[in-house]
Amino acid sequence: MCGIVGYIGKQKAAPILLDGIKSLEYRGYDSAGISVINNQGGVAEAQVEKAVGKVINLENKIKSRELLGGLGIIHTRWATHGGATEANAHPHSDCAGNIWLVHNGIIENYKELKNELISAGHQFKSETDTEVVAHLIEEQVKSLKSKVQSYALEDAVRLALKKVRGAYALAIIDKREPEKLVAVRNSSPLILGIGNDEYLVASDASAVVKHTRKVIYFNDGEMAILTPDNHRVVNLENQAVDSQPQELDWTVESAQKGGYPHFMLKEIFEQPEAVENCLRGRLVVQEGTAKLGGLESIKDKLREIKRIHISACGTAYLAGKVGEYMLEEYAGIPVEVDLASELRYRKPVFDNHDAVLVISQSGETADTLASVKEAKEKGILTLGIVNTVGSSIARETEAGIYQHIGPEIGVASTKAFTSQVAVLALLTLFLGRQRQMSLVTGERIARELQRLPELIRKVLQSEDLIKQIAVKYQTHNNFLYLGRKYNLPIAYEGALKLKEISYIHAEGYGAGEMKHGPIAMIDQNLPSVVIVPSDSVYEKTVSNIEEIRARRGPVIAIATEGNEDIKSLADDVIYIPKSLEMLTPILSAVPLQLFAYHVGVLRGLDVDKPRNLAKSVTVE
Ligand code: F6R
Repeated sequence: MCGIVGYIGKQKAAPILLDGIKSLEYRGYDSAGISVINNQGGVAEAQVEKAVGKVINLENKIKSRELLGGLGIIHTRWATHGGATEANAHPHSDCAGNIWLVHNGIIENYKELKNELISAGHQFKSETDTEVVAHLIEEQVKSLKSKVQSYALEDAVRLALKKVRGAYALAIIDKREPEKLVAVRNSSPLILGIGNDEYLVASDASAVVKHTRKVIYFNDGEMAILTPDNHRVVNLENQAVDSQPQELDWTVESAQKGGYPHFMLKEIFEQPEAVENCLRGRLVVQEGTAKLGGLESIKDKLREIKRIHISACGTAYLAGKVGEYMLEEYAGIPVEVDLASELRYRKPVFDNHDAVLVISQSGETADTLASVKEAKEKGILTLGIVNTVGSSIARETEAGIYQHIGPEIGVASTKAFTSQVAVLALLTLFLGRQRQMSLVTGERIARELQRLPELIRKVLQSEDLIKQIAVKYQTHNNFLYLGRKYNLPIAYEGALKLKEISYIHAEGYGAGEMKHGPIAMIDQNLPSVVIVPSDSVYEKTVSNIEEIRARRGPVIAIATEGNEDIKSLADDVIYIPKSLEMLTPILSAVPLQLFAYHVGVLRGLDVDKPRNLAKSVTVE
């Protein structure tokens, strides 16, 4: 949660910071703030502005001000400690207003630190955990000054952070050192962009890519000391760290809307290409298997795996639920799927031949990351399916598979979900062929995977129809989503999409489980979205539709092309092409994404930034 950007260089910092923070607004958007060091005429001054609400409010506020300096920091907030007020908005400062910093993460021991600092005479202006860091640095500056003739900001930062427990990505400036930006990371994402005579630090690459594609991913406990023409990376013991820059594989266009009204719609329509990208070079059709570079080094270990624990949050968890069906049916490996927030606290029974597989688009979700750490602690093999290269989870897991779908910026996960399921299908092929899966079965799955992008394109052609259905049902305040087997997780996912985008109450349920309770709610005012492809549970699901119809409940069916019978059972039908049963979730998820999108837009909501949410949930 929260996005931070820092800039130091020969250009004016403010426009670059504003532009950068806009691309990070998906991380939080309840308030924003900027601090720029203006060093005109040898007198350095910190120019600070804050605004409640989205970044546009901050932008409007600073329009009339001249922010001239080439050094600055900016922040967009998702509140944890203290409400969304100007006082709580970052940047925060020390008592004297010399040191300014922006923070993403949580300082866990902030209460005890705050009490100590208050006893030492510090005055706090906000309710945030972050502010303690500014005062701690101030305290260390005082102490260094009393001991040595000259000190540097980075020394005070290092000493201050030794007292801090928690997660942080910090960008720090001090008007007494107007040619320096210090950035440091522990458990929260931070990236350094290296330009020509300029540097940017940011929570993710989308804020950097316009200026440079040469980046350094920080490890925990690493700190960068930046001047306009030099950078140095050290650890918290002040030892130099040899961080080699890498080339970003993102383009500027991938982080922009490209003519679509919303990122969410763009990303829904990017799904054929996203799935293509995550399959590229990985299918070996004639051998009926997948070639997964990230798993090559542990191929033999994987042959010995007897059970997989999948751990993830939200939509990624639901991708894991589809993976459970695939891996059990085709690879014959028992699978347990856990919400990461549960796995980290319950006492899972691990065996030496188990593996923990985490799934995370951002690679930064706190609970998912914690479940990796928990498994590592117990000596269990950890695997990851991750989109963001260089993210914490990508680095913590022993081996893994990247999604390669470019940035997902809309807060609701769409292309990340379908490609996570596609990667799980690749993994099923890979592990299945190591075990009982025949060449013929492997080939059939591989061929069908190859067709997927084309099939998704076909589903997307139904957008107009889906929009009409959204118009018809937009005023309903409750929905039931039903599915069975491979499409049960899609019922949950469809309901989740509608909830988060439209704020409409929607419940995902097993179609076969409906009569054990929720059927009591069914009447003409409760529409049910039923996922009923022509698969092994088709007839069972049709019986469930009959049960709804008998109680006059409206039905929207997601069915397989060519199924004319369904028209007499459902009020509205959206068709998806025929595919292998295990791959239908990738197709059936798409109309549900479009339905949620259009209902949200019709209700006048900000579908890219739904209220109360943030894209990357880096707090528990
Ligand atoms: C829902 C959604 C969330 C995420 C969840 C995990 O549309 O986007 O439920 O799926 O927060 O995020 P990652 O995949 O980044 O770990």
